[in-house]
Order: sequence, then structure tokens, then C-alpha cells
Amino acid sequence: SDPNLVERAWAAKKALGDRLFILGHHYQRDEVIQFADVTGDSFKLAQQAAARPEAEYIVFCGVHFMAESADILTGPDQQVILPDMAAGCSMADMAAAQQVEDCWDALVDAGIADSVVPMTYMNSSADIKAFVGRRDGVVCTSSNAERALRWAYERGEKVLFLPDQHLGRNTVVRELGFDLDDCVVYNPHKPNGGLTTEQLRQARIILWRGHCSVHGRFTLDSVNDVRERVPDVNVLVHPECTHEVVAAADRVGSTEYIITAIEEAEPGSAWAIGTELNLVRRLANQHPDKRIMFLDKAVCYCSTMNRIDLPHLVWALEELVAGRVPNRIVVDEDTTVNARHALDRMLALP
Ligand code: 13P
Ligand code: SF4
Repeated sequence: SDPNLVERAWAAKKALGDRLFILGHHYQRDEVIQFADVTGDSFKLAQQAAARPEAEYIVFCGVHFMAESADILTGPDQQVILPDMAAGCSMADMAAAQQVEDCWDALVDAGIADSVVPMTYMNSSADIKAFVGRRDGVVCTSSNAERALRWAYERGEKVLFLPDQHLGRNTVVRELGFDLDDCVVYNPHKPNGGLTTEQLRQARIILWRGHCSVHGRFTLDSVNDVRERVPDVNVLVHPECTHEVVAAADRVGSTEYIITAIEEAEPGSAWAIGTELNLVRRLANQHPDKRIMFLDKAVCYCSTMNRIDLPHLVWALEELVAGRVPNRIVVDEDTTVNARHALDRMLALP
């Protein structure tokens, strides 16, 4: 690879000046994150996407659903670019629009649709956000899932939570005091989600059967092992982890929460972090006075986040300098209008 990539990236960034705004999610590689004008979790990046109306080009160093959200939230003259189109998200892919329509039909057939507020995690396609917006629901991220759920339960008796079953379950059980029995899991690969009408009627929350393949790899054994090896360790995990892991952890929160917790931690304290490895490594490098380790022995990068590497970023920036717009993410008008309702509702949460 070209040893001048770093120089080329800085040169292209300089040439584009204020016309360019680079957003970087915390799971991005260090080689990419150094060029971000703003870094953040999904919530902060959604807010920031709209923060530079004068920027013509928003280069999104993250995954596809985040770039779609940025396109929905930015003005018509702003163009959103994803440096590698293959940077998707396996969780977002677990809920397809037709499957969600079929699920809603099942709720209608069970006679409960009128009492269900649909809600989707940010980690979903623009189509799913539009589905939710059309039915007066809300988007949430891992930093505001509790507030969004409280908002939803002021409006309906039940919630359909898409597509991350773990974030939904963890939040209602930990923050809203639900029992595990109040939750049912809708499996889109089975007729009627694999649920009886009675189960749908009894449930307080219907969780979509989706999960994050990265956070899903942490297990109760990972937690027990690290507690054995490092007796004074604090276990800090992301709410996309399973309920078992979250229940065994000391602290739980979004990537932005995890960063703040480490910044505020006592020097010398020990932390085992259950989230993506690029972020954990960066925190360990930035805080040499604290003992920061990865929660599991096996490495755990998000392979799609990692697709955005320096060669892809340089290519995208140099294309822009040459007057071409590569890998533009465009959400159609109807989807944008409806998805925007659900996103705006989230951004307006108190
Ligand atoms: P947050 O950025 O909301 O913490 O989500 C983590 C994640 O998995 C993003 O894909
Ligand atoms: Fe998707 Fe998980 Fe990767 Fe986030 S970490 S982009 S939820 S696969």
C-alpha cells in the first residue's frame, strides 16, 4: 500500500476545506478516525449530521444505516458519501421491510395493532425507519432507548421493538422494571413470528429477533473469566450484549457512555469492556494510567465497520477533489419524509 496515504488524505481534506465534513463512529479504525471532524456514537452523529448545513459533502465513516440517516437529516444540496458501499450492518439486515409489514399484519390479525407503538433502533434501514414514522412511532439509539420507550408507553400499551432484541429487552427490564415474561420474541422466519395470538396479546413488548454479531459474542463465561483473573475489575458493556451478560456487568451504556465512564475512572482502576475492539484499544492507548482490557479473550472487530480503511477514505476524498461524487447514499423522497418523522421525534425527546 502507498506509504503516502496519510499525506494524501490530509492534502485532499485541506483542498476541500469547509465544503467537506467528515463524521466518524467510535468503532472506526484509528487510521480513519484521525481525519474525522466529529466522532460520536450513533446518536451524536445523527445530531451532528445536520450541524454543518454549509458542507456540500458529508463523508460518513461508519456503516450504511448511519449514512442513510445522515442523508435523511441533511439538506437537499448536501451529499452523503460512504467510502465503501460494502460497509453494512448484519443487525440492520435482519429486518427487511416486507418482513416487518408481515409482522404488523400479524398484530392486526391478533386484534392488538391499535395498542402497539412501533419503535426502531437506529441500526435499521431507512425503510424500517419510514415504516415506524408512518405509524407514529419513534427511532432510538442506545443512549436514549429508555426515554424513547417511556415516550412510547405514554402512547400505547405495547411496543414493537425493531431490530435488536437485546437492547429492547435490556432496557425494559433494567430501566422500566419489566419481567422477562413481559417480552416475546418475534421470529420473522416463522409463520406468525412463531408466536400464538395469546402470546402476542399478553406481551408488553414484542422484540424482533435481531442481534449484533459483535456484541453477541460476549458470554457469561467472558464475564466470569475476567472476574477470576482480575478480582477488582469493573465490567462495562454495551446494551447490545445479551441480557445474561448485561445482568452480570457492573455498568451498561452506549459507546459515548463507555468513553465518559473511562475518562472519569480512577487512575489504577481496572476495566473489562464489552464492545467493539477498535474503541477498546483506543481507550487503552488514551488512558495508560488505567488498566483497560477487552472483555473476551477472542478478538472482536466489527468487520463491516472495518471496511472503511484509509485507502477507501483517500479514494473517496480524492474523487471529490477531482469533482466526482463517489458512493453517494440517497434515500428516496417518500422514505425520507416518513423516516424523518421518526428521527425528529427521537431528536426532540427531552
Ligand atoms: P452506539 O453508537 O449507539 O453506541 O451503537 C453501537 C453500534 O453498534 C453501532 O453500530
Ligand atoms: Fe452492526 Fe454490530 Fe457492527 Fe454495530 S457493531 S455496525 S450493530 S454489526
